[in-house]
Amino acid sequence: MPAIPQFLRFCLDRSGKTSQSSRLLSYLEGLGYPVESWRFPDRNTGVGQMISSYLSNKSQLDDHAIHLLFSANRWEKRALMENKLRSGTTLIVDRYSYSGVAFSSAKGLDIEWCKAPEMGLLAPDLVLYLDIPPENAAERGGYGGERYEQLEFQRKVAQSYQCLRDASWKIIDGRLSVEEVEKQLREIVISCVMMCQKGKSLSQLWS
Ligand code: TMP
Repeated sequence: MPAIPQFLRFCLDRSGKTSQSSRLLSYLEGLGYPVESWRFPDRNTGVGQMISSYLSNKSQLDDHAIHLLFSANRWEKRALMENKLRSGTTLIVDRYSYSGVAFSSAKGLDIEWCKAPEMGLLAPDLVLYLDIPPENAAERGGYGGERYEQLEFQRKVAQSYQCLRDASWKIIDGRLSVEEVEKQLREIVISCVMMCQKGKSLSQLWS
């Protein structure tokens, strides 16, 4: 099995994950690694457009239905993800299945029901969680523009994430300066890359 570095990241809205993803991309590119930055939802596909319309409150959907659409949006990229990883490309993924389960279970859906459609998707080698109190996130620019950017709901999402933590997770204090968060992420990521280069097989959620 080839070395397959893979990083997935996710966290609360407005925690800085998107800008840290692009900093990490530049860092790994600079070191000469083949690397790509992805994000979910991928709003460019047909399914992704339905999700985008829902998130911007232009359409309404049953909570189960939108959960399954988010999952379908990951399944439609699964084969490409596997190809990329098998060819040695590191993927930095801004949100993944954990966001799907955390957000839907925060609405009150059964957590095992939420996990079921994610089973068989590729598991990350590393999960980076930028931990920021929902109150702090709400103070950041642009907050409140989309459906889930509500303080009370984000508190529930934070609790849901806590139930999902496992050995692949690293928790980073998202209240630190951008530079300090970046420094910590670099250290964690580079040790994961080196570990993956020794040879690591792909595994699946949630096994
Ligand atoms: P974004 O702001 O990172 O583009 O994510 C859009 C919103 O969708 C965000 O509030 C989190 C939510 N979300 C889910 O509810 N389920 C999912 O599976 C994913 C990936 C995101």
